[in-house]
Amino acid sequence: MIDDPPAKKVSYSVIDHYPYQIFHNDLNAIETVFGGRVLEIADRLAGIVAQDHSNLICVTLLVDSIRFLAPARRGETLVFKASVNRVWGSSMEIGIKVFAGNLLTCKSRHVFSAYFTFVAVDADGKSTKIQQAIPETEAQKRRYKEADIRRINRLRVAQEIKDSRL
Ligand SMILES: CC(C)(COP(=O)(O)OP(=O)(O)OC[C@H]1O[C@@H](n2cnc3c(N)ncnc32)[C@H](O)[C@@H]1OP(=O)(O)O)[C@@H](O)C(=O)NCCC(=O)NCCS
Repeated sequence: MIDDPPAKKVSYSVIDHYPYQIFHNDLNAIETVFGGRVLEIADRLAGIVAQDHSNLICVTLLVDSIRFLAPARRGETLVFKASVNRVWGSSMEIGIKVFAGNLLTCKSRHVFSAYFTFVAVDADGKSTKIQQAIPETEAQKRRYKEADIRRINRLRVAQEIKDSRL
């Protein structure tokens, strides 16, 4: 029998401050940041957190609760934060938050949030078990608890849709 890999702390893989300066080619027709750009960076960072935590190849299964809370503009700097909220079997939830601000004034505002569900896969692309993530801070413990509520909802909705097609 193979032992489960040892659990790792959430803080091991956390990305606390990933800055990205907004340039002209990041803007949409109304001169605010194109949402797809934010999503792409968020997906890359969530993947890094997933792989750093698990030491396995991880793929994006689903993204939900995507919220663009406020526009970000040319010249501002986006700061991405990413951490593993909870691990189940082969899947885990990575939470992403983005703040937009001005480096000169140090003022920033929350502009984006989303949850990425990643699955660890083996060499054949089959889902494989991940070590647990240990939350330590109050915020990490809250996210850990809430992540389970979100997962139950995701599975319930998927099942309800499946059943409705029978
Ligand atoms: C991700 C993938 C390997 C999962 O395959 P699968 O046959 O569904 O695998 P499983 O049935 O073993 O499920 C894998 C995990 O996803 C979870 N899952 C499946 N559907 C889910 C849903 N709707 N909501 C939440 N979790 C879900 C399962 O519960 C399981 O997690 P667990 O082991 O923690 O319980 C497969 O769907 C895939 O390869 N998708 C493409 C990924 C991709 O190309 N991403 C973009 C580029 S990275």
